[in-house]
Amino acid sequence: MAGITDADFLNSVIHFGFDVATLGGYNLDLPTIKASKKIIERGRKEFCFPEHFIFSHIKNEANKIKKYNNVSVSVNLRSTTPQPIIDVSKINNVDIVEINCHCRQPEFLDINCGQNMLLRKDLKEFISIVCDNAESKVFVKIRANVKGVDDLEIANIIDEAGADYLHIDAMKKGVSDADYELLSKICDSVDIPVIGNNSINSELKILKMLETGVSGFSIARALISKNLDFDITNF
Ligand SMILES: Cc1cc2nc3c(=O)[nH]c(=O)nc-3n(C[C@H](O)[C@H](O)[C@H](O)COP(=O)(O)O)c2cc1C
Repeated sequence: MAGITDADFLNSVIHFGFDVATLGGYNLDLPTIKASKKIIERGRKEFCFPEHFIFSHIKNEANKIKKYNNVSVSVNLRSTTPQPIIDVSKINNVDIVEINCHCRQPEFLDINCGQNMLLRKDLKEFISIVCDNAESKVFVKIRANVKGVDDLEIANIIDEAGADYLHIDAMKKGVSDADYELLSKICDSVDIPVIGNNSINSELKILKMLETGVSGFSIARALISKNLDFDITNF
């Protein structure tokens, strides 16, 4: 969660039983930095990051997490080209680079970034270049049910491109729960392990998520208060 998930925040919630902690999302290149400046201008201060020393910032944040916790550190990244993501994968203590195909702020969509990565003709090539050159694992985070996107086709593209995990925010418009049906279909059709995300705020929701065939789940908003009133260690 941009503006929230820094090392201090993650260090305060990892003890609930998480095995991956995700920093960011961060902007890595000029187009994404310019887009985030426009977003900041309209009051969304959480998109403000130390643009001139983002790599050392990520390095310090990753070190801070590893100092206190035995978890994998993932970094959620926005970039219009693969190379800056590959560069982050080389940072010591970064275990996973997560390609952000998820954000939907118009400023990112205008530069074919965020969820509009899913509409790019070169998406497979983009992910393959990262996977072939990264020195960490590569996750791809997508938003489900984006207009004009065939989720099953995209899941297969990401699988074929060689990513290690597909992370899906299974959001469905008008529903305050994950799209479990879509997750089941995706899990049935790809070999790549899937992490299911959206609206988990109870053990029952975790069970429903796992029944779709996902290999894991992620939690965002339910953690903002830095508290969880359910136990994730039973799963
Ligand atoms: C304030 C906030 C900032 C977020 N920033 C990002 C981000 O930078 N990158 C990303 O991939 N998802 C981001 N998300 C989406 C969450 O990671 C998650 O996919 C979404 O909130 C659904 O999961 P949840 O129902 O557990 O919150 C953000 C969510 C919130 C609430």
